[in-house]
Amino acid sequence: MAVSNRTLRITVDGEPVTVPDGANLAPVLLERGAVFRRSVTDLPRQPLCAMGTCFECRVTVDGMPNVRACRIVCRADMVVETETGRTADQR
Ligand code: FES
Repeated sequence: MAVSNRTLRITVDGEPVTVPDGANLAPVLLERGAVFRRSVTDLPRQPLCAMGTCFECRVTVDGMPNVRACRIVCRADMVVETETGRTADQR
């Protein structure tokens, strides 16, 4: 899908974010410096492959956990939660 001049609003970790209509979610989160998730050894993880195979870009989208951000086109009013800012007891 092509990115247009139109924008839409999503929410990332409780903050409103304006993104280009048609934008992929992973670069939107990378631009914000987000920690997408944490490994089993509690290391911060970010996208690696950008094509849906490594699963390092998993986030929660509209309450659905483990969504691969690199496979998602932003939609108006989408609510995204990353591991950024979460404490251990919130995971
Ligand atoms: S970056 Fe590898 S699955 Fe998304």
